Amino acid sequence: MRFTTSLSKGLGGVAMVFIAVGTPPCENGEADVSVLDAVCREIARSADGFKLVIVKSTVPVGTNERIARVLQRDGAHPSCFRVASNPEFLREGTAVTDFLYPDRIVLGCNCPRSADLLTKLYKPLLDGSYAVSSNAIPAPDNARIPAHVVLTSSASAELIKHASNALLATKISFINAIANICEVNGADVKEVVDGIGTDQRIGSKFLKPGIGYGGSCFPKDLKALWAVAHEGGYDFHLLEDVMQINKEQRAQFVRKVRQALWTLKGKRLGVLGLAFKGGTDDVRESPAIAVIRQLLEEGSYITAYDPAATSRARVEFPADAQITFATSAYAAATGADALLVLTEWEEFTALDLERLRMRMKQPILLDGRNLFSPQQMKEAGFIYYSVGRAEVVPELEPDDSSREAA
Ligand code: UGA
Repeated sequence: MRFTTSLSKGLGGVAMVFIAVGTPPCENGEADVSVLDAVCREIARSADGFKLVIVKSTVPVGTNERIARVLQRDGAHPSCFRVASNPEFLREGTAVTDFLYPDRIVLGCNCPRSADLLTKLYKPLLDGSYAVSSNAIPAPDNARIPAHVVLTSSASAELIKHASNALLATKISFINAIANICEVNGADVKEVVDGIGTDQRIGSKFLKPGIGYGGSCFPKDLKALWAVAHEGGYDFHLLEDVMQINKEQRAQFVRKVRQALWTLKGKRLGVLGLAFKGGTDDVRESPAIAVIRQLLEEGSYITAYDPAATSRARVEFPADAQITFATSAYAAATGADALLVLTEWEEFTALDLERLRMRMKQPILLDGRNLFSPQQMKEAGFIYYSVGRAEVVPELEPDDSSREAA
């Protein structure tokens, strides 16, 4: 593997070029493809023989066609290039195994030559030979070996990427809406998810309720898909609702904290989790950060802990006297009027609940990710609020009940 900052050197003699540049959102939600455009111009100028230009970046449908026009306009002869779409479906934190053991590999090719080149490139994953090789990274549970290939046009491949993320986000907002209905009507969202998810047509994945989705992909891609639809004259109301429910879910959680504490002003809150999801240090569009901002605005004092994202989160709250960062969950809980779980870190489930409770001013835990079970928290002596499930209060100790009776 070689690294270079010279595009023309990097392109010298290669048959396939992957473009994986960022496509951040513009003000109006559209994907900003200006970097992609700049790269394509350079590729056109550096052409030295046939190249397959493969777009990995998440782009609006129709981008491949535009790239082909840019390449031609900037001097590349049509016989010297083809453009193909090969979207990625990697999750932060598990990107390597997601790449090596994908559910599917989507190849958006408008000609047999492109399809042939890309199929050859992915051969070790498509014929299963990678998985049985001596240096293979172990396969995760339920890995699909060999990988399934989906051969489509480039436009369909571009849309598959956006539609996949939009549908996953829709599942999350849907179950969050159901969770809210559960809360009002005394149903338990976990039981509802078990009942829904066992229908194989629906599946149980991406039905975990909480304080909504975040990260650098779902929020951006939903806006971009909405903008593509709008541009084409179709109002994709469903996506607007998905985004609105996601936003409202954070506000709903803040309301829950306020109700539990009567007022937020002057309250000391311990926060567990800053990253947009567990297993990453990424705080981009993190629901945890959004909730914290709201709590600070209402006058709370926060001590936050995250296993990996603290240094990135600090940048979000420069010189804010109301928030400090702790180096352990127990330190975050110390002296707290309530403890809030905002990110689904696996390690939080292994916390010593007794130790945590003993350090707090009041044993109130608000679980924005349903990491704990109500029964477990009841036994551990917490007043426990979660998402889509009834609030629990601790069973009274024999001593406490006699004190009450007296
Ligand atoms: C997402 C997709 O899952 C990947 O397939 C895709 O390749 C990637 O975006 C991308 O477009 O590059 P990622 O952003 O890493 O991956 O995160 P996810 O694991 O999908 O989680 C996104 C958000 O949804 C997180 O905030 C998570 O906490 C939340 N979530 C997820 C829920 O609230 N409930 C769930 O059931 C699942």
